Amino acid sequence: MRILHVAAEIYPLVKTGGLADVVAALPAALAARGLDTRVLVPGMPSVMSGVVDLKRVMRFGPAFGAAVVTLRLGRMPDSGLPVYVIDAPFLYRRDGNPYLGPDGRDWNDNHRRFALLGWVAAHLASGELDRRWQPDVVHSHDWHAGLAPAYIAQSPALNTATVFTIHNLAFRGLFPLDCHTDLGLLISGAMQSGIEFHGQLSFMKAALVHAKRINAVSPSYAREICTSEFGWGLDGLLRDRGDDLSGILNGVDYRVWDPRTDKALTRNYDAENPRGKKVCKLTLQGELGFARSTKIPLLAVVSRLTEQKGLDLVLEALPVLLAAGGQLVVIGSGDADVEAGFRAAAAAHPKSVSVYLGYDDAMSHRITAAADILLVPSRFEPCGLTQLYALRYGTLPLVRRVGGLADTVIDATPATLDDGTANGFVFDQATGCALASRIVDACALFRDSARWRQIQKRGMVQDFSWDDSAARYEALYRRI
Ligand code: ADP
Ligand code: GLC
Repeated sequence: MRILHVAAEIYPLVKTGGLADVVAALPAALAARGLDTRVLVPGMPSVMSGVVDLKRVMRFGPAFGAAVVTLRLGRMPDSGLPVYVIDAPFLYRRDGNPYLGPDGRDWNDNHRRFALLGWVAAHLASGELDRRWQPDVVHSHDWHAGLAPAYIAQSPALNTATVFTIHNLAFRGLFPLDCHTDLGLLISGAMQSGIEFHGQLSFMKAALVHAKRINAVSPSYAREICTSEFGWGLDGLLRDRGDDLSGILNGVDYRVWDPRTDKALTRNYDAENPRGKKVCKLTLQGELGFARSTKIPLLAVVSRLTEQKGLDLVLEALPVLLAAGGQLVVIGSGDADVEAGFRAAAAAHPKSVSVYLGYDDAMSHRITAAADILLVPSRFEPCGLTQLYALRYGTLPLVRRVGGLADTVIDATPATLDDGTANGFVFDQATGCALASRIVDACALFRDSARWRQIQKRGMVQDFSWDDSAARYEALYRRI
């Protein structure tokens, strides 16, 4: 079976969040199961320079504003996974964030930039772009690749199976209605109702209408998006498609996230031999200018700083966190007001709060290893990967009971502590108070080092690898 994954990001070449981690790891896990798997991505500068052995497959154009487009095939530098790259300098050779210009606003031709991604996927499916490899399944991810199922549905002769994964329904890929003239879709009748969303175009809706199967990145999120609270206006459509909608939990790529082999760490460690974690913690505390002590609970945030992630709640809970004797290290970037809030907190408490505003892959690994507790107080969370990474690193996640966080973190209660299933802390209300109260509990439990080690160990040996989820995806492909 031949599977084509279509996405805007792929770790380590282009990454703004967990989507990139999934697009690198899931296809590799499917390939390891014997499926003939390739990925299609736009030729952003880091992709053009990072994919190895690039060879030309087909040249065509003009298309979507680009005079010439060259489809190339190469391999990922680490996994060797085959990758098609759309080399369209006019659309993609722009440094920085893949979606935003230097002014922090969406590029004004994003509808063309990502329509081309879906269009190329559909023409790979039809065999017109590469006669030597034609996918049986086109599996696209998030709105950026949302037009792939629509273009495929527009060609009735094509019987390619289409799967669409929702990583984040909040980003619906909205554009003014008149942009449709740039897309080469026949926007009339069923196709019009399949992409029009309250007087705009939505690439996300196009995918939800046209894909043969839809899945969300955790079972809880698959249920939540069918409600008006989490549905972003698409819940009615998702309820209608209920028979075709499933939830498959993301996995962890333990080749990238394993404290035993992680090259970013000061000292490696694992569940059997956890002493290296203390070295990681003491080293980081020293670098941050904090008191160096394994007895002080070190709390961490590794996150985009957006409304979704609920980090304003951490700012609200900060006085309580400090009163409980905790230290806080934050790495992230995003909304200006949240950034400013953390900057001010670090200035006010330089010996217990440290904030790195930016993106740094190695630093995110070091913080995950050094911390005792990882805070993930999200308002909604389709899956969440950082809590899964934290578990393997012996860092207890403290999360809100929502989406994939609810599916993966088992709250430490008297019952779960007794039966040995607890692996972290969970709170319910999206308020600073509720978070603060769980932080106090976690810091108290931290001082019971025997209990703490028991919970830590439980998380470190849990298996969230891709094996199980890749098998579920394979079963889904076989069904359609
Ligand atoms: P989301 O995709 O919603 O941002 P996830 O938890 O699925 O949330 O994935 C976030 C990914 O981005 C993780 O791999 C995390 O380690 C990484 N990450 C988040 N912020 C930063 C940062 N400032 N620097 C480096 N990596 C980061
Ligand atoms: C999205 C979600 C996150 C999920 C990631 C990978 O960015 O916000 O919860 O883990 O995609 O699927």
